[in-house]
Amino acid sequence: MWCTTFLYLFLLLVHSAFQVLSAKGQEAVGTALKADLVVLNTAVAGKWLDAVLKENVHQVLPKVLWWIHEMRGHYFKMDYIKHLPLVAGAMIDSHVTAEYWKNRTQERLKIKMPDTYVVHLGNSKELMDVAEASVAKRVLREHVRESLGVQNDDIIFGLINSVSRGKGQDLFLRAFYESLQLIQEKKLVVPSLHAVIVGSDMTAQTKFESELRDFVALKKIQNRVHFVNKTLTVAPYLAAIDVLVQNSQARGECFGRITIEAMAFQLPVLGTSAGGTTEIVVNGSTGLLHPVGKDGVTPLAKNIIKLATHVERRLTMGKKGYERVKVMFLERHMAHRIAAVLKDVLQKAKNHRHS
Ligand SMILES: *[C@@H]1O[C@H](CO)[C@@H](O)[C@H](O)[C@H]1NC(C)=O
Ligand SMILES: *[C@@H]1O[C@H](CO)[C@@H](O)[C@H](O)[C@H]1NC(C)=O
Ligand SMILES: *[C@@H]1O[C@H](CO)[C@@H](O)[C@H](O)[C@H]1NC(C)=O
Repeated sequence: MWCTTFLYLFLLLVHSAFQVLSAKGQEAVGTALKADLVVLNTAVAGKWLDAVLKENVHQVLPKVLWWIHEMRGHYFKMDYIKHLPLVAGAMIDSHVTAEYWKNRTQERLKIKMPDTYVVHLGNSKELMDVAEASVAKRVLREHVRESLGVQNDDIIFGLINSVSRGKGQDLFLRAFYESLQLIQEKKLVVPSLHAVIVGSDMTAQTKFESELRDFVALKKIQNRVHFVNKTLTVAPYLAAIDVLVQNSQARGECFGRITIEAMAFQLPVLGTSAGGTTEIVVNGSTGLLHPVGKDGVTPLAKNIIKLATHVERRLTMGKKGYERVKVMFLERHMAHRIAAVLKDVLQKAKNHRHS
């Protein structure tokens, strides 16, 4: 899986101090040679090094900070990353992803990672403002619930991610169905449960999404499962749901920005025990973790029931999540960490020049 957040982050840096240049032409080469520090964003940007810098590449490498957000196998190609061992540093979004890069580069390509810094992402001020505005949140909540046909007292479990097998919507729906069955079998008294899947795109993942919709029709849970087209505006949905489900499969998310966004909205998280999620969610405190794959379906179903039946626990977990965001996952925490990395890498680049 790979993070879809880098564009936003890149802009953030650019606005605070950096210069943006087209990565082509003599101007870029000249600037790279003169610069104290060059930030290379994403693994794929490695292709740019030889193509643009040509014979100057070895002069620039010792002052490159390489910001990596990917963790899919096909990025581990010499084409992209052969210069990685020679750069001043690598910056990666989570400890698990950093470890994965260390393993894969060593085992697959026999190259060594440079000094690596882990920088968790942080929530923007704009998002925090909405999350902390109770009136606005209530309006958004009512509006979205009305559009979905969900009552105020019903409980919504929401998964907000592009619809694809890697994000685990299929396994989530199976768990959701299993939880409905358990509730019926055990005659549990709970409010109506709903599942909302935000990220639908029938033009892209047609086969997979048809599978999801067929499952919903087959199990006759159309009135409980709602598909919402993909959108970059997630705040209304975070305001409308009661629990975030983060069900990314395999190695999980490299970080998983939506997780900290949901926590800002005081939502507990039911997440797979993989990737960045394990560094964000405190199992038993700010959410509950379940295993990836089919083994995770029944544990997730049970966790869904736990949060549906224990209102107090659900609300407490949401509050704990919010507190965790306030001490670890704000933009200013991220800026602080990035500043420390930049300072370190600049110093290293400088020492290299003088040696
Ligand atoms: C990295 O390799 C070590 C040793 O082989 C292993 O224990 C660890 O789980 C691996 N980590 C990742 C993230 O792949
Ligand atoms: C959702 O996207 C589909 C195309 O994939 C489109 O036909 C439909 O009108 C969209 N629905 C809404 C509510 O925008
Ligand atoms: C999460 O905590 C529960 C108990 O609260 C435990 O049963 C479960 O194994 C834990 N899962 C992980 C992945 O740590």
